Amino acid sequence: MNDLFSYIEYAKKKVEDRFDILIPENDDYASDVFKAMRYSLFAGGKRIRPLLAFLSADICDLDHYNIIDFACCIEMIHTYSLIHDDLPAMDDDDLRRGKPTSHKKFGEAMAILAGDALLTESFRVLSQVRCKNEARLAEIIREVSLCSGPYGMVAGQVADLNAETRRPDEKELAFIHKNKTGRLIECSLVIPALAGDLEKDKIDNLREIGRNTGLLFQITDDLLDIDGDVKKLGKTPGKDAKSDKTTYISLYGEKKSREMAYDLKEKTKCLIKDIGGNLILEQLIDFIYERDH
Ligand code: IPE
Ligand code: IPE
Ligand code: MG
Ligand code: MG
Ligand code: MG
Repeated sequence: MNDLFSYIEYAKKKVEDRFDILIPENDDYASDVFKAMRYSLFAGGKRIRPLLAFLSADICDLDHYNIIDFACCIEMIHTYSLIHDDLPAMDDDDLRRGKPTSHKKFGEAMAILAGDALLTESFRVLSQVRCKNEARLAEIIREVSLCSGPYGMVAGQVADLNAETRRPDEKELAFIHKNKTGRLIECSLVIPALAGDLEKDKIDNLREIGRNTGLLFQITDDLLDIDGDVKKLGKTPGKDAKSDKTTYISLYGEKKSREMAYDLKEKTKCLIKDIGGNLILEQLIDFIYERDH
C-alpha cells in the first residue's frame, strides 16, 4: 500500500472485521445495548485513529497484528465520546455519521448505556494487545486511561462545557482542543511505540507529532462547522455558532484559524520528516488539513 486512500480502505476493513468478532450481535445478553453499540460502531466514520495507530506501528516496525485490538479500543473510546457528546445535556445533536444520533434512535438512557458499555469493553479489548515486552502492557493501560479520562478527553469536554458560560481565553481554548480531541489522537501514535518497546525519545517524538495532529484536527473540525456540507460531514454544521461555543473561529476569526491550521500542518510534516519520514502519514496530515468531512 503506497497511497493514503488504499490505506484508509485497508484500515476501515481491518477494524470493522475485527469489531464483528469483538462486539457480536448478542441475543442472549443485554441485546439492546449490543444493538446500540453496533449501530454507532458501524455507522461509518473515517477511522482516523486506527489509521494513525497502524501508521505508527509501521514507523515502529511492529506488525499490525500486534496492535489491531488497540486500534479497535481507541475507535470504541472515540465512538463512546461521540455518543455522549451528542446527548441533549451536552451538544444536543440529531445527526452523526450520516444517521440519527444514538439517543434519537434508542432513547437517552440506552445511548448513555451504549457509551458506558463501549468504554468498559474497550479496556477488555485493550488487554489483548500483543507487546514485544509484556511488562509494557500496564503502561499501555495507564496511558489509554490518562488520555481518555479526567486527565485527558473528559477534562477537555468539561472545559468545553464550562466555556459555554464563561468565555475562555487563548490558553483555555488550547487546553480544550488539546484534551477533548488531541489526547485520543496522541494516544493513537504513542501506544504502538509502547507495544513495540521503543526508547523514550522515540516515544516522545511520536507524542509530539500526535499532539500537533490532534490540534490540527480540531481546528479543521471547527472550520468545517462554519462551512461544511451536511451530506459530506454526516453531522449538522453551524452548531457551534448556534450554541455560542468558543472555537478557533470565534476567538481568532476564520482567516487566522486557516493560517494557524496551515502552520500546524507544515510543522507536523517537518516533525515526521525529522524521525525519518513516512509518506502516508504525511499525506494523512495534508488530508486532515484539506478535508471536507
Ligand atoms: C469528530 O471526530 C469529533 C472530534 C473529535 C472532532 P471525527 O471527525 O474523527 O469523527 P468520525 O469518527 O469520522 O465520525
Ligand atoms: C468533540 O468535539 C470532542 C469529543 C467528542 C470528545 P465537538 O463537539 O466539536 O465534535 P463534533 O463537532 O460534535 O463532532
Ligand atoms: Mg462537543
Ligand atoms: Mg459535538
Ligand atoms: Mg465540532
